[in-house]
Amino acid sequence: MKLSQELLNSLINITSNSAIACYPYIGKNEKILADKAATDVMRDQLNKLNIMGKVVIGEGELDEAPMLYIGEKLGVGNGPEIDIAVDPVEGTNFVAKNLPGSMSVLAISEKGNLLNAPETYMDKIATGNHVPRGSIDIDFTIEKNIKIYSEITNKKNSEITVCLLDRPRHKKIITKLQNLNVKIKFITDGDISGALLVTNEKFNVDIFMGIGGGPEGVIAAAALNALNCNFQGRFLFETDEDIIRAKEMGIKDLNKKYEIDEIVKGESIFCATGITSGDLMNGVIFKNDKYITETIFTHNKSILELVKKEVSIT
Ligand code: FBP
Repeated sequence: MKLSQELLNSLINITSNSAIACYPYIGKNEKILADKAATDVMRDQLNKLNIMGKVVIGEGELDEAPMLYIGEKLGVGNGPEIDIAVDPVEGTNFVAKNLPGSMSVLAISEKGNLLNAPETYMDKIATGNHVPRGSIDIDFTIEKNIKIYSEITNKKNSEITVCLLDRPRHKKIITKLQNLNVKIKFITDGDISGALLVTNEKFNVDIFMGIGGGPEGVIAAAALNALNCNFQGRFLFETDEDIIRAKEMGIKDLNKKYEIDEIVKGESIFCATGITSGDLMNGVIFKNDKYITETIFTHNKSILELVKKEVSIT
């Protein structure tokens, strides 16, 4: 089965509309309401598609946001069987505070082809498609990975940029990177975008690394896989409850290092519409009674494409 162009167009409309639903909440310090508005639109519109869909990556358990929950069935109930990963608002703080980089995100695959990720953290590493698969490894030391990257690209350490979430848990990595004289691009939230910055040299990010959400890792991997980029991830479990939930989801080896092709198999579609403007695309603009949105997508192509839409208010 192929994931059709028609399905792609529908998904672009859906993330575009869920981003528009957030527009009234930009800068209103109402992250739950923003998330609910986007989630409601996404659920309603996914339910109208001719698919037998199932949410395999949902949201809400970590931050008690209104959920599109894992296992939820979506679609009219006939058509292809599809696994769906949703992140109606990636970067809820950005929307609440009107900061750059929030987006509404969806990824899909054929049934069984997206890893079911528990709502727990994931250690991640990603590089662009100029790096041969297998050369950088999440299990290597920071020093070794930087050395290998420097050899592959002929860049001095001082010319290499590593992107990671600005979190106290990354203190050791940060110190090592600083000792190596590597540039760091700190992001305060939104590590799907952070990982996608390795996809094109115009973003000036060589390596993305560090610990962020597991679901966000799977969604980023869907886009990176289509672009032939590199990604590895390993779940991190903080509580016994996390471990029980992971086992229920079928994860046997809790310490497993996941390669990108174990996270996403076969064809996939990834769509992300900007809510507030960021490095990857502009946010929603309202002008002359129309909303203008920008969506990036991959559909098993080797470039990240961008489409602009105008939606009239009804
Ligand atoms: P939300 O959109 O749900 O607020 O998540 C934002 C985010 O920054 C993710 O991109 C990232 O994976 C995760 O939160 C990191 O979690 P934490 O803030 O606990 O470090």
